Amino acid sequence: MAPVTARPPHDGPALPPRTAELQRRLLAWYGREGRPLAWRRTRDPYAVLVSEVMLQQTQAARVEPAYRAFLGRFPTVAALAAAPLSDVLMAWRGLGYNRRAVALHRAAKAMVAGPAGRVPVELAALRALPGVGESTARAVRALAVGADDAPVDTNVARVVTRAVTGAPAARRDLQALADALVPQGRGADWSAALMDLGARHCGARAPRCDGCPLHRICAWRTEGSAVDPAATPRGPRPSVPFTGSDRFSRGRLVDALRAGPVPADRLAPAAGLGPDEVARAAGLAEALVRDGLAVRDGDALRLPP
Ligand code: ADE
Repeated sequence: MAPVTARPPHDGPALPPRTAELQRRLLAWYGREGRPLAWRRTRDPYAVLVSEVMLQQTQAARVEPAYRAFLGRFPTVAALAAAPLSDVLMAWRGLGYNRRAVALHRAAKAMVAGPAGRVPVELAALRALPGVGESTARAVRALAVGADDAPVDTNVARVVTRAVTGAPAARRDLQALADALVPQGRGADWSAALMDLGARHCGARAPRCDGCPLHRICAWRTEGSAVDPAATPRGPRPSVPFTGSDRFSRGRLVDALRAGPVPADRLAPAAGLGPDEVARAAGLAEALVRDGLAVRDGDALRLPP
């Protein structure tokens, strides 16, 4: 294993005094207990990008089978770009947030048409792709080419806030700190380790500090604040029931479209809505067309070609 060293002087934020210990502890724990997730067996930037887009809003356990099937069907960025969007949406079944599939398909077309004709690994080029934000771009760089980049998604932000700053921090400051914490040359394992710690021990609700490899040095724990520094200032978001929400009904409608075209007078039942919600169903259909998830075919709605 490569030696773990705190970064030499850099122009980022001052590193916390126990950075080297933090790095050593977390990487050792990851070596023992890291999750053997399917996308960790590849360094193909395309496969990593597919996994990261899926993981933006869907849990790893649900992503794994869909990821394998998706790569079986679209093994390269060229295969994805050449496929009809309807096939891509079929392969997205079960993942939710279907707009990500539209964006990924558009990104594939842009990459294939671009000068390199492949998935870029430069930060700016990745960021320019539809559906690729700061965290996804950094994850692709860290996980595919081992760059010393830190993807800071909600989970990593929570871990760094609790374990390192111990106090609420602005997202930009967290990003700079997270980048500075990456043990040189270990970007892939480091970002995966932070994600796993967020999933296994440092969850949003009820963190499991017993057995956490950072327990002894965690800023939140050692500084003794009763208030979770990673809690949102407005407190937990009110939980809105998913069933009955627009997002739920949209998902139902896209699932119905996966089975075939839906005539206008069947939109409401296809979306799981009652006969008194015909106007709402029409609005949802309109939004799907606007988002590129459906097209009109005469009086019916269907998946885009
Ligand atoms: N969440 C976002 N990216 C992830 C990854 N590569 N592994 C596990 N969870 C993730």
